Amino acid sequence: HAAEAHRTDLMTLTRHVLNEQSKHPESKGDFTILLSHIVLGCKFVCSAVNKAGLAKLIGLAGDTNVQGEEQKKLDVLSNEVFIKALTSSGRTCILVSEEDEEATFVDPALRGRYCVVFDPLDGSSNIDCGVSIGTIFGIYMIKDKNKVTVEDVLQPGKKMVAAGYCMYGSSCMLVLSTGRGVNGFTLDPSLGEFILTHPNIKIPKKGSIYSVNEGNAKNWDEPTARYVERCKFPQDGSSPKSLRYVGSMVADVHRTLLYGGIFLYPADKKSPNGKLRVLYEVFPMSFLMEQAGGQAFTGKGRALELVPTKIHERSPIFLGSYDDVEEIKTLYAASV
Ligand code: AHG
Ligand code: MN
Ligand code: MN
Ligand code: MN
Repeated sequence: HAAEAHRTDLMTLTRHVLNEQSKHPESKGDFTILLSHIVLGCKFVCSAVNKAGLAKLIGLAGDTNVQGEEQKKLDVLSNEVFIKALTSSGRTCILVSEEDEEATFVDPALRGRYCVVFDPLDGSSNIDCGVSIGTIFGIYMIKDKNKVTVEDVLQPGKKMVAAGYCMYGSSCMLVLSTGRGVNGFTLDPSLGEFILTHPNIKIPKKGSIYSVNEGNAKNWDEPTARYVERCKFPQDGSSPKSLRYVGSMVADVHRTLLYGGIFLYPADKKSPNGKLRVLYEVFPMSFLMEQAGGQAFTGKGRALELVPTKIHERSPIFLGSYDDVEEIKTLYAASV
């Protein structure tokens, strides 16, 4: 039977989103169009990543971004591709990228209702050695099309209408939530289409992996240090957790989502707000975690309740399986 050897009824990303949209008669297909432009950017970056070594895309671009990081050639190229794809969609009005100091206000003639915040290339330090990297995005909707200000993106993460990431790994996967669960799509390179391979992803309630840059341990605060100690020397007779840390947030969060466990980028004495950026790293990943049944915590409260005051603001983040995040919440609550 052909159908047993091959999938013949292909649920592509576009078909999936159109299905979801058809439940909302008021929708005019704008979101589907926006998403198809994001997908184009992801496919372009995927192809660039795959031939990076051949296409002389390895190495530094020669500039430093507003975060004080040296930009890689792929950071710059990916940013350009996404800015152009998003602008030309005709569905966006404000874009915030990790690689641009200021928000981009789309030309009024091309403006639409959506704001997109994104990390065009996440895991830059892993480019040159071929380890998994990704793209992260979050989508807001503006209030008033005639009065577009940066305040439209300085909104708590719970106001996002969609969030997702694309991972350029052993296969290229796009994971998306529009606020009704989380779905994973795998790029079929021969078709150039993302196919639904991981419907309705739910994170295990408890995991056996923790993921953190332990090289920062000497500067951690007390609750983080105690939590990680407990991962290694559990007090309740359970087995110690395994440590996995890629150093690309997309890859570390993707594994956490599928296998369960916890990902931490805590505050430390040198970076009191941690490293990860609220708008385009912390919020989209927290949105996905909650939609998959997990939790995301900043050390003070629910990550999605944060109200950012600057577009490149940072926050500590602890996200993953419900029970594992609950444990670190208890430690922080006890420390105040
Ligand atoms: P980016 O490459 O977009 O600047 O993000 C890097 C981030 C994130 O991907 C990862 O979780 C974290 O940096 C790793 O930081 P450390 O090297 O400090 O562990
Ligand atoms: Mn960077
Ligand atoms: Mn990043
Ligand atoms: Mn980046």
